[in-house]
Amino acid sequence: MMKTAKLGVLLVLSAMVLVSAACGKNNNNNNADASKEPAASVAASSDAPASEAAGDKKIVMGFAQVGAESGWRSANTQSIQDSAKEAGIDLKFSDAQQKQENQIKAIRSYIQQKVDVIAFSPVVESGWDTVLKEAKDAGIPVILTDRAVDSKDTSLYVTFMGSDFVEEGRRAGDWLVDQYKDATEDVNIVELQGTTGSAPANDRKAGFGEKIAANPHLKIIASQTGDFTRAKGKEVMQAFLKANKDIDVLYAHNDDMALGAIQAIEAAGLKPGVDIKIISIDGVKDGMTAAADGKINYIVECNPLLGPLLMQSAKDLLAGKDLPKRIVTEDGTFTSEQAKEALPNRKY
Ligand code: AHR
Repeated sequence: MMKTAKLGVLLVLSAMVLVSAACGKNNNNNNADASKEPAASVAASSDAPASEAAGDKKIVMGFAQVGAESGWRSANTQSIQDSAKEAGIDLKFSDAQQKQENQIKAIRSYIQQKVDVIAFSPVVESGWDTVLKEAKDAGIPVILTDRAVDSKDTSLYVTFMGSDFVEEGRRAGDWLVDQYKDATEDVNIVELQGTTGSAPANDRKAGFGEKIAANPHLKIIASQTGDFTRAKGKEVMQAFLKANKDIDVLYAHNDDMALGAIQAIEAAGLKPGVDIKIISIDGVKDGMTAAADGKINYIVECNPLLGPLLMQSAKDLLAGKDLPKRIVTEDGTFTSEQAKEALPNRKY
């Protein structure tokens, strides 16, 4: 059954509901110690008192974005910039071009500028402890959006808001298991992974693998990164097609890689969605259009419209309110028919 994600302002309004749902259901995501570290304690150690940051003075937020690798990312950037404007927050924005060192540089410059709050979507999961400690020592709270870090010390950030990527992979796997429940022969799957070391690549692979393990006929015969881009998706799919004669299914960790792969499949004289079944993640307009055209068979949604929730959370935090350690946003799924129906009202 398709569940439609809450969009724009609705996302903010529903945030508290989602938050409480996340707190209630995902206790094992939030280790007990982590949830005991209230956001307020980070805000209280800030150079500027919480009341001053939230009161007369305009909140200054430094946002270190991953890059502009996909349609999802562009929608996410737009949402953050628009919402900051709407919320009256002074946004300092940087694009790291998918490089961790650029994100670290940007965060350090926000620390130097003494912004009120830093938010970022970490390109990869590891290697953040040093710079996050620098922010903490400077009394600047950090909000993670979209992607997680694997830091053991969860006091280094206030909250992490975004989709549950493992669950997205599981949903993709569930669909495939159902499609091939009567299979009597092997089903050859190729996988286009997201950026190596990123949370969505790690988690979407894990969730999918967990589900398809239920049917030994479902076999991943090739798996490689396409770095979440259309160009790389096309290039890697070309190589997959060259090396493997019988590909039954493509699992792409995002729409852009699936769209690139579709070009390669068509160039090889095959019909995407028919000769090769395609599952992807995101649900951006181009992906939904391909699904509506029958070229992508199933999309698991990942909502990029995190801006309103981020701005509201920053305001709450700087007003001294506690934030939950994990805020899970709500996503849906789309078959081709459902994509056709949803397309006219799609915002991104
Ligand atoms: O982190 C979210 C992922 O990053 C999206 O699925 C992908 O399109 C993007 O580049």
